[in-house]
Amino acid sequence: MVLRPRQFEPKSKSDRFSFVTEELRHINKASLYRKLNVINTDKLSTIVVNGSVESINLSSNDYLGLSRNKAVLKATVNNLCQISQCSSRLIAGNSDELDQLEKKLADHRKSDKTLIYPSGYMANLGVISTLANKSTTIYSDEYNHASIIDGCRLSGARIVIYRHNDLDHLDQLIRKSTSDRKIFVTETIFSMDGDQSDLRAIHELARRHNAITVVDDSHGDFIYDDRGKLALEGINSVDVYISSLSKALGCFGGYVSASRQVIEFLINRSRSFIYSTSLPSHLCSAALAAIPIAEQGDLQELLMKKITFFSSKVDSMGFGNVRPKSRFRSQIVPIVVGDEKKTVEFSKLLLSAGIFIQSIRYPTVQFGKARLRASITTSLDTKQLKIALEKIEAIARKLNII
Ligand SMILES: Cc1ncc(COP(=O)(O)O)c(C=O)c1O
Repeated sequence: MVLRPRQFEPKSKSDRFSFVTEELRHINKASLYRKLNVINTDKLSTIVVNGSVESINLSSNDYLGLSRNKAVLKATVNNLCQISQCSSRLIAGNSDELDQLEKKLADHRKSDKTLIYPSGYMANLGVISTLANKSTTIYSDEYNHASIIDGCRLSGARIVIYRHNDLDHLDQLIRKSTSDRKIFVTETIFSMDGDQSDLRAIHELARRHNAITVVDDSHGDFIYDDRGKLALEGINSVDVYISSLSKALGCFGGYVSASRQVIEFLINRSRSFIYSTSLPSHLCSAALAAIPIAEQGDLQELLMKKITFFSSKVDSMGFGNVRPKSRFRSQIVPIVVGDEKKTVEFSKLLLSAGIFIQSIRYPTVQFGKARLRASITTSLDTKQLKIALEKIEAIARKLNII
């Protein structure tokens, strides 16, 4: 189902926005209406939504609980002498901290160079739209994040969508290509399904077809790493690596790691980099303090234990097509319901029972594949996870979902 803005004739001059009213009505009818919740919290694992009861938070991307880490907060505050550089990087907004953080992230990625963007969204938008142009064909996984999709669209390239994680399909499609410049773009850990792409196979296919690989590792970065036990095989073979600092690091901002030439090219051509105010220095200090904590490795082990406990129980509850193709378990646990209205109801009932898991609907996921996206963080203790599991099962039964 595609909900496109349709043409509405204004009834009168004063009714110029009638198309907005109509479109909102259409969105509401399809159970796709979104509303902002006011979230309050002074804790890591619980939140208060719209002033109601304190609820266990299973909707955070603060996977390692670093957003409130004392050492990270201290480093941030100690460097807080200016809120913002109030200028873009190429004018007067570059700083020592940005430089240090880029060097640190380049080491972390074992790459030549890193470039920081104000957010992960802007990194995807700016990198993809700069590397691709009208004579490029981009091969994009059908489940890629909106920021990747928008980067592809903005580039003006020919976009070819391959079935999710289906590399035979990608192979078939690329054989038909006549483009000189080809780009494969995927995520490592998919943001709404939590499954993993096969980077080794993608690299091999890209090598055979002389394609560039662009990979968004926002949900894998600082969690899965070929240095530790949680290997993300093939990650070091990626040509252009993009990530967000707002997930496992608990900070803010986005970055790209690539060869020196590519980074120089982005500095000269990438519009979301050039024409936006730089990431504030104190946020760079936050990330600089968070990286060594994340790299110790113990938080990832703790996270894995919680993931195994929670997702094995969810798997045994009998929800439909959860992780359809992979048994890989990540911190993102999709609880697929299908029907949009029922998914919203599920989320609402959970919230009234003190569990916050946001519903995810079209266009974030395909129409008819609505779900609750539970995310596991180190901050959730076993008791909280057990309560959440009990409520999920009870409410899903009440709604005849399982
Ligand atoms: C896969 C993926 N890429 C990029 C982003 C954007 O990152 P940021 O929140 O830093 O803009 C997100 C955010 O949710 C994401 O899930």
